[in-house]
Amino acid sequence: MQAQSLTGAQHAAVLESVAALGHLQGALLPVLHAIQDRLGWVPPGVVPLLATGLNLSRAEVHGVLTFYHWFRQSPPGRQVVHLCRAEACQAVGAAALEAHARQRLGVELHGTSADGRYTLEPVYCLGNCACGPSLLIDGVLHARVTPERFDALLGEGAAGGPAAGEATP
Ligand code: FES
Repeated sequence: MQAQSLTGAQHAAVLESVAALGHLQGALLPVLHAIQDRLGWVPPGVVPLLATGLNLSRAEVHGVLTFYHWFRQSPPGRQVVHLCRAEACQAVGAAALEAHARQRLGVELHGTSADGRYTLEPVYCLGNCACGPSLLIDGVLHARVTPERFDALLGEGAAGGPAAGEATP
C-alpha cells in the first residue's frame, strides 16, 4: 500500500493537515497546500491517506494532485526559484531570463538541478509588474532581474533579502 512508503513525519503532516482543514468545503486543495507547505512537496503516498481522510476516491485525489503543477511530487532542491512568466515580465525580458536560468541550472521548468541545489518553477504574476522581470528565491522577491543579476543572486545564496537599491512592490 502506498501510504506505507511515507515517513513518520510525512504521515503526521497528512493527518494533522486533514484534522485542521478537513472540515472545509472543498478541503482537498487547502489540505494539499498545507502538506506542501510543511513538507516542501506532496509525496504520492499521501493519496490513499487523503482519500480516506476526506472521504474521496483515490482517483479524485490523484487527479487534483497531478492537475496542478504547483504541487510537487518529488522533493524540491535546497533553494526554489519561482520565475514570473506573466505578461508584464514577459514584455521586459522574462523569456530571455528563463532561457538563461534553465541553461545556468541545467534544468527545465519544474525541474531540480542534478546536484539537488535548485528547483526552477514558473509563476504567473508576483504583483511586482512595474519592476520586472521578477522572481522569488526561497520566497524572497527580487526585481528587475537580468541574467547577470540572476547569476549574482545565486552566487549570494539569494535567500537573505532584496539587494540594496532593489525595488519591491
Ligand atoms: S507580470 Fe511579473 S510580477 Fe506581474
